[in-house]
Amino acid sequence: MGVRYSAKYLKKFIQDEEYKNIYSQVKTAHELLESKTGPGSDFLGWTTLPRDYDKEEFARIKEAAAKIRQDSDVLLVAGIGGSYLGARAVIEACKGLMHNELDGGLKILFCGNSISPSYLQDIMDQCRGKRFSINVISKSGTTTETALAFRVLRQLLIEEMGEEEASKRIYATTDRAKGTLKELADAEGWPTFVVPDDVGGRYSVLTAVGLLPIACAGCDIDALMQGAADAMEQFSVLSPENDAYKYAAARNILYRKGKAVELTACFEPAFAMMNEWYKQLFGESEGKDQRGLMPTSCVFSTDLHSMGQFIQDGGRVLFETMVDVKKPARDLFIKSLPSNFDGLNFLAEQNMSVVNRKAMEGTILAHNDGGVPVGIIEVDSLDEYNIGNLIYFYWRTCAISGYLLGINPFDQPGVESYKKNMFALMGKPGYEDRKAELEAKLN
Ligand code: PA5
Repeated sequence: MGVRYSAKYLKKFIQDEEYKNIYSQVKTAHELLESKTGPGSDFLGWTTLPRDYDKEEFARIKEAAAKIRQDSDVLLVAGIGGSYLGARAVIEACKGLMHNELDGGLKILFCGNSISPSYLQDIMDQCRGKRFSINVISKSGTTTETALAFRVLRQLLIEEMGEEEASKRIYATTDRAKGTLKELADAEGWPTFVVPDDVGGRYSVLTAVGLLPIACAGCDIDALMQGAADAMEQFSVLSPENDAYKYAAARNILYRKGKAVELTACFEPAFAMMNEWYKQLFGESEGKDQRGLMPTSCVFSTDLHSMGQFIQDGGRVLFETMVDVKKPARDLFIKSLPSNFDGLNFLAEQNMSVVNRKAMEGTILAHNDGGVPVGIIEVDSLDEYNIGNLIYFYWRTCAISGYLLGINPFDQPGVESYKKNMFALMGKPGYEDRKAELEAKLN
């Protein structure tokens, strides 16, 4: 049935009139998006991607994944931000957090997403003596975290498997034509996959950026794309009944009433990386010009034992968006015990998913009573089809929400600042003046 948005628990906080009042702005946002005349319109490739994706490359992705699954014990996926989060989010949502341990086949390890030497050493220890391959993913081809990890891991691959074999085990996902990584890949003859020019990093999960690692994990990428294609049909229509637009409207109405934080929560741990992906999508899209909701996330009921107090009782700065997964990937029947030694027989003779659902319902009502507006995103299950559907639903919401906010949802000028400082402090040529200035501040 696909993703739905329910505003049932927002009724105390948003009147029908307010949805009607903001609708003319939703219409303008929709028209900006459709006519490609809004800010950031060079980056709208995602709007029709589930239909117009490169079918020839899609077939090559499947072939490469089949080869990697057959000739490798470990796939290292090196990338950061938009070149990392989506792939991991989809794999963990669909395959579970323990897929590497439970599947018994190819292990997928993510790296190049920090500058931690400890983490990289651990990754290297997981590869020594094993058959491994590397998928290096970088649109720019120059991102420090990814490039540094790749430099080290490529060397390890050569040491372990020899130069010739190593060159058959590196897959580069990068710009179609330019950049250091593209030049290197062409010179070395590595298979390359494309990050399209008109798709930004945080919208790239359904390009080769996400699809190759996702296919390597054994996920059904046809179903993923079908879910996204169906969502494209459903959520690209201008209508008050469009759930992505309702969600975008609710976010902005609440923001304008002083709710500065959106907390996305889910009662499935496998959704944890989807939460991270959502945070990049919305944080990087909307957090600019000193504006924007701060996206944050929890996995419940785990985090009810840490963040629950604040949500229930702390500063009234947030609203909650609950991702309600209707059917868990696996269930467990709780048996009644004659001794009832733990007093838990009141939970028994039913599936554990029922208990989880009651916990969710109880949480929604408690938070609502505590003054927290709660919107609900309903998802049938965390399989490939529904995750594809959800990804497109989030994309549409984010674009419309960003235009409602009055910013460019498709750029990210702010992320350059830390990079410039890091380059200067490390003595990169060309950053001499900034280096002196920063060192003076540090001292
Ligand atoms: O959304 C973005 O643009 C960023 O998160 C990038 O994806 C991230 O910085 C990685 O960039 P690149 O793919 O160029 O290595």
